[in-house]
Amino acid sequence: MSSNFAEVSINKVKDYWNARPCNIRHSTAEVGTREYFDQVEARKYFVEPHIPLFAEFEKWRGKKVLEIGCGIGTDTINFARAGAEVTAVDLSVKSLELAKKRAEIFGFSDSINFFEANAERLSEYVAPQKFDLVYSFGVIHHSPNPEKIIQQIKENFVGKDSKLKLMVYYRHSWKVLWILLGYGKGKFWQLDKMIATHSEAQTGCPITYSYTKETVKDLLGDGFEAEDILVDHIFPYRIPEYVEHKYLKEWYFRYLPESVFRKLERMFGWHLCLTAKVK
Ligand SMILES: C[S@@+](CC[C@H](N)C(=O)[O-])C[C@H]1O[C@@H](n2cnc3c(N)ncnc32)[C@H](O)[C@@H]1O
Repeated sequence: MSSNFAEVSINKVKDYWNARPCNIRHSTAEVGTREYFDQVEARKYFVEPHIPLFAEFEKWRGKKVLEIGCGIGTDTINFARAGAEVTAVDLSVKSLELAKKRAEIFGFSDSINFFEANAERLSEYVAPQKFDLVYSFGVIHHSPNPEKIIQQIKENFVGKDSKLKLMVYYRHSWKVLWILLGYGKGKFWQLDKMIATHSEAQTGCPITYSYTKETVKDLLGDGFEAEDILVDHIFPYRIPEYVEHKYLKEWYFRYLPESVFRKLERMFGWHLCLTAKVK
């Protein structure tokens, strides 16, 4: 099941995210307006309510936050709203354009510094400095060498009291099973490629690594120690209605008690959310 993701060029990754920035179609309003950004946020946190719980925006008031892979800036703006001083980087200039527009519209341009950067070589773009929190949600598994990003964080952007909050995709998840059975007809030897092809809203993502609770610790290397690892998020909605901004659950989730669904999410969710401290 080996992949050749490490050999994929960073430009291919950049082109993919420039062609369709993450969550760009989360709103039907005119792109780049206040209404648009409000709708994007409402939809994102409605479908993924674990994100604000994981990010703990309020906790970082007055602190320095580095966000790696900010996309169009939904979490970024919420760190700023909570009173953090934010540095946000992304590979995709198209995503950054919207994230910057968002900061302007909501009056946070002064508290967010944006950089177009490949996080695998972050110190070439952002001056080394200590951040209280390094946050990266759904990003490093799309980069050719995620371990280089961890190395960059460890060597240049944390001090002994800093925290790292990372979301990477969970391999033992409902979503991976769904991809394997639905698209792959069970061809498990092509699993990595299939996961990448179908992991995002736009098919054909060039790189999508996925991790277990063990392999994510290996990814951390000897610089960080995991404090908390939790699995969350099963997407329960039917896609044809969802793209029309309607929320109709798949029949097999429709009649499941909420408490049972939550238990399933905590066992087989797609998001492996890890909080770590510096060793
Ligand atoms: C799935 S999106 C997540 C965006 C945002 N964190 C969110 O939750 O909405 C992945 C983002 O990672 C960025 N990305 C991928 N590899 C990167 C790298 N090596 N350096 C910086 N950003 C990267 C992409 O450009 C894209 O915006």
